[in-house]
Amino acid sequence: MIYSSSSVDVSKQKTQCAVVFCQGDTLLPSAGEIDKACSGLLSALLKSKDLGAKEAEHVWLPLMPGSQNWERVLLIQLGKRPAKKSRQIAENSATKVLNKLAKLLNAAKFKDAAVFFDDLEVAGREDLTREREWLASTLVQKMSFHSYQFSLKQAKEKKQAGLKKLLINLSGANKAGLNKAIKQAAALGEGINYTRELGNLPANICTPVYLADQARDLAKQYSALSAKSLTEKQMEKLGMHSLLSVSRGSDEEARLIIMEYKGADTKQPHVLVGKGITFDTGGISLKPSPAMDEMKYDMCGAASVFGTIKALAEMEAKVHVVGIVAAAENMPSGRATKPGDVVTSMSGQTIEILNTDAEGRLVLCDALTYAERYKPRTLVDIATLTGAIIIALGHHASGLYANDQKLANALLEAGERANDRAWQMPLWDDYQKQLDSNFADMANIGGRTGGSITAASFLARFTKKHRWAHLDVAGSAFHGGTTSKGATGRPVGLLVDYLLNN
Ligand code: BES
Ligand code: MN
Ligand code: ZN
Repeated sequence: MIYSSSSVDVSKQKTQCAVVFCQGDTLLPSAGEIDKACSGLLSALLKSKDLGAKEAEHVWLPLMPGSQNWERVLLIQLGKRPAKKSRQIAENSATKVLNKLAKLLNAAKFKDAAVFFDDLEVAGREDLTREREWLASTLVQKMSFHSYQFSLKQAKEKKQAGLKKLLINLSGANKAGLNKAIKQAAALGEGINYTRELGNLPANICTPVYLADQARDLAKQYSALSAKSLTEKQMEKLGMHSLLSVSRGSDEEARLIIMEYKGADTKQPHVLVGKGITFDTGGISLKPSPAMDEMKYDMCGAASVFGTIKALAEMEAKVHVVGIVAAAENMPSGRATKPGDVVTSMSGQTIEILNTDAEGRLVLCDALTYAERYKPRTLVDIATLTGAIIIALGHHASGLYANDQKLANALLEAGERANDRAWQMPLWDDYQKQLDSNFADMANIGGRTGGSITAASFLARFTKKHRWAHLDVAGSAFHGGTTSKGATGRPVGLLVDYLLNN
């Protein structure tokens, strides 16, 4: 898709489809001009109630009578004005309208369209940067989101020719700023769809070695990006026995994957660490079978590191980010780790593995210790770590933990801006004693209560030297069930926003 911006008058714009808006029974200026050109057809539609007053209702006007410029017109209802103030719309209404518009345009058979936002303002977005660009940026992101098709199905159901070019008209926006916002939104969309694709791939394709190959392929595409990966043998030498204890039962070799994006050269990069369990059976502490297929999504944290790095590289962001992925498969077998086994982590701390299904923290702790060599400016790990965070927060927010409140605030704010929200959870010392063990420095589980918090408390023991945060995305990174099953691409929006603004 090619996106461009302009502030051309609708009457001078030739297009296969002009998209214009009304608010209640008032036509926005571009819709008004079209109305004039077709002898009041649009206002007649409003009067007759053929176009209702609810947000995102719409009518298509094919074969525009007497028009040289617009082959067809799409008129969309923005809903009632939230305040007396002219041409303002509430953010959630705007999101609904843009989502609908993106769906309609993605299903279109014509090749180009032009959207006329005129001087529409979004309430609550005035105080944020990129305020005028929010509409364009959100539309582009929604377009990208709805264009995603899972690769293994796409091969069979070839997408027919559809929209190729979208022109976005906004008055009162700074042209350079608008173009930058469009470019960034398109790049973010690509990153998000990449994260969704990696998440959705089944575990017989998406193995730890497959992920390591992905990192190399990405590095070939972008000159500012480099990638390498460590084999089990190399990890053995580094003393990563906690990570290796997880892949012991699997025929798939584990990998520690490292990607470095140098859009700026700083001595202290931001470091992201992703949980990349390509399938989590639970190991000897075997999971029950219903919905176990969803444990292919246990590498969504890793997938979000891939997607974030791709988005930043694609938008040529001037940031320095290292992405580390701890990739392994958790299987039961004659060689598998057993409950009660004690291992020594790379940090030297020993761990009694009381439950082999609490494997995420076991791979992450060694990856977090490995991250120290980059002297991280900030260290953020992303993991589908616990079922308990879904009980606590449901599927709407990612769980956020941090040992530094400034970092927590920066991530929370990024989530708000990107509409990819997180909610902070406590990381008090009070929880630490739940991890006590008679046989090692700590146990890998903390009992039934506060399951997501004790998991975070475990990780906190390995990140004391740095400003660190942990995102538990077990509820937000994918949808389970049947009808809407799939990876969401979260929290790539949050992470990219955070890295661009800090
Ligand atoms: N990968 C799971 C967590 C998970 C559950 C992710 C549901 C997505 C959806 C993790 O490895 C796990 O099994 N956690 C256990 C921890 C427990 C054994 C302390 C859990 O949450 O039950
Ligand atoms: Mn598990
Ligand atoms: Zn897991």
